[in-house]
Amino acid sequence: MAFRVPQVTSRPNGEPLVRLSGVNKWFGELHVLQDIDLEIARGEVVVVIGPSGSGKSTLCRTINRLESIEQGEITIDGERLPEEGKQLARLRSDVGMVFQSFNLFAHKTILQNVTLGPIKVRGKSKAEAEQRARELLERVGVSAQADKYPAQLSGGQQQRVAIARALAMDPKVMLFDEPTSALDPEMISEVLDVMVGLARDGMTMIVVTHEMGFARRAANRVVFMDGGRVVETADPETFFTAPRSDRAKDFLSKILNH
Ligand SMILES: Nc1ncnc2c1ncn2[C@@H]1O[C@H](COP(=O)(O)OP(=O)(O)O)[C@@H](O)[C@H]1O
Ligand SMILES: [Mg+2]
Repeated sequence: MAFRVPQVTSRPNGEPLVRLSGVNKWFGELHVLQDIDLEIARGEVVVVIGPSGSGKSTLCRTINRLESIEQGEITIDGERLPEEGKQLARLRSDVGMVFQSFNLFAHKTILQNVTLGPIKVRGKSKAEAEQRARELLERVGVSAQADKYPAQLSGGQQQRVAIARALAMDPKVMLFDEPTSALDPEMISEVLDVMVGLARDGMTMIVVTHEMGFARRAANRVVFMDGGRVVETADPETFFTAPRSDRAKDFLSKILNH
C-alpha cells in the first residue's frame, strides 16, 4: 500500500510549497537565523545538515510557527503564516513534524495517539480516523502494536508511530528534526526506510539529519547551515564528494572521521 499523499493541486503560478524569504530571527542578542532564502518545491526532499547550534531546529520550528520570526516571510502553499488563531492551527496542521524525541502521549494507546489529531483538529469521525490510522500503522510496520502503550514499544517503533501520527493529519509537508539521533543503531534503518518510502511516494520533506545514506537515497538537495546561515546548497552527491565552502569541508571531515 502506498502512502496517500495529499493531492498535488498545481498552482498556475508554480508557487513553491514552502518559501522562506529574507527570514531573520534573534534570541536576544543571538542572531540565530540570518537572511534565510529557501524555496521547497512540491515533492522535493531537502536535507538540512550542519554543526550543532547552527540553527537547524530553529529553522524547522519557524516553518510551523513554533517560533516567531522578526523579519522576512514564510509561506506554505502560497499562504503566509498567520500570527495566531484558528488560521494558524489549520496551517500548522498542514506541516507534519517529527522530532528527535518521539513525543507520543504516554497514557494513550498507539491507535489513540494516531487518531487524536484527526478527530480533534480535522473533525474526522472516530471510525474514519481509526481506519486511516490502521492503514498508516500498517504502512510503517507497527500495526500489531495498535493497542499497546508507547512504553511497550522500542524507540524505532515509537518513532515510526510518530511518523504515522503526523501523516494522519494529511500534511502538505513533513519536517523531520534529527529523527534517528536518539535511536540505537539497529533501529535507525527501520525509521529511515519508512522515510525513504515516503519520499518516493512524493511527499514534500525537510529533514534535518546527518545520515548521509538517507541524503543520497532520498534527497533532491542538501542545504548546509552554519552560524545561522545557509552556507551552501547542492545535490547530495556533489555536496558529499565536492563541497565548495571551507566550512562544509571542515564539517564533513568531522562527521566522516568521528
Ligand atoms: N529558545 C531559545 N532561546 C535562546 N536561544 C536558543 C533557543 N533555542 C535555541 N537557541 C540557541 O540558538 C542556536 C541555534 O540552536 P538550534 O536551532 O537548536 O541549532 P541546531 O538545531 O542546528 O543544533 C543555539 O546557539 C541555541 O543555543
Ligand atoms: Mg537541532
